[in-house]
Amino acid sequence: MSSLSRLSRRHFFSAAAGFAAAASAPRAGFAQAPAAAPAATPAATGPFLVPPLPYPTNAFEPHIDARTMEIHHDKHHGAYVANLNTLAKTNPQLGTSAVPDILGNLNALNDDIKFAVRNNLGGHANHTMFWEIMGPNGGKPEGEVLAAIGDLGGLEKFQTDFNAAGGRQFGSGWVFVTVTKDGKLAIENRPNQDTPIMDGKRVLMGNDVWEHAYYLNYQNRRPDYLKAWWNTVSWSKIAERYAAAKAGTLGV
Ligand SMILES: [Fe+2]
Repeated sequence: MSSLSRLSRRHFFSAAAGFAAAASAPRAGFAQAPAAAPAATPAATGPFLVPPLPYPTNAFEPHIDARTMEIHHDKHHGAYVANLNTLAKTNPQLGTSAVPDILGNLNALNDDIKFAVRNNLGGHANHTMFWEIMGPNGGKPEGEVLAAIGDLGGLEKFQTDFNAAGGRQFGSGWVFVTVTKDGKLAIENRPNQDTPIMDGKRVLMGNDVWEHAYYLNYQNRRPDYLKAWWNTVSWSKIAERYAAAKAGTLGV
């Protein structure tokens, strides 16, 4: 099985397990509204798959509305994956290499696919991370993650600086927190679907500041979205990713 298939399968199984756990957990976090069905996942037509959401699409209301989640996951992420599967038909090596290895070596690709891979594989990696680091009842940073945030001035300053970086990003892009193998964090933004993985770094977490992530509810008020988004963050998932980064096993 290819690395990417393994990635997709891993995400499928962990996401499915997460959803099953969420379904059996107390529903206090979103008991006021009936749970929406998890977003449908397009049928596989190649090595790339959109990982199913491990929570209902209305899990983050009122901070992110269900319709935005649905369109974002199914249509936007779905389009990156569909484009990748088209590319993989004529470039099968895309389906047999680990995603960080491809993104970290874009210059090794032929010029005719380099731009498309940069955008679509970057988009796939970024959105896969994005769905993973969000979750209902997300808790608070603790332990090593909290200590690493302390090195950046503490949680309040970290969130203010992160939001400012996301607000500064001109046009579409992302604000990320990168993590080194010794656990040091840094806030970095990137345009379009670029990712610090393209510079050989690893991403602990990140927020999508493309208008498609917030426009239905927030229109031009990106700073309001950036502030509200923190209510959707799963600190337990981020702690898992932090441990994986230190172990050298963090993927996208
Ligand atoms: Fe997005």
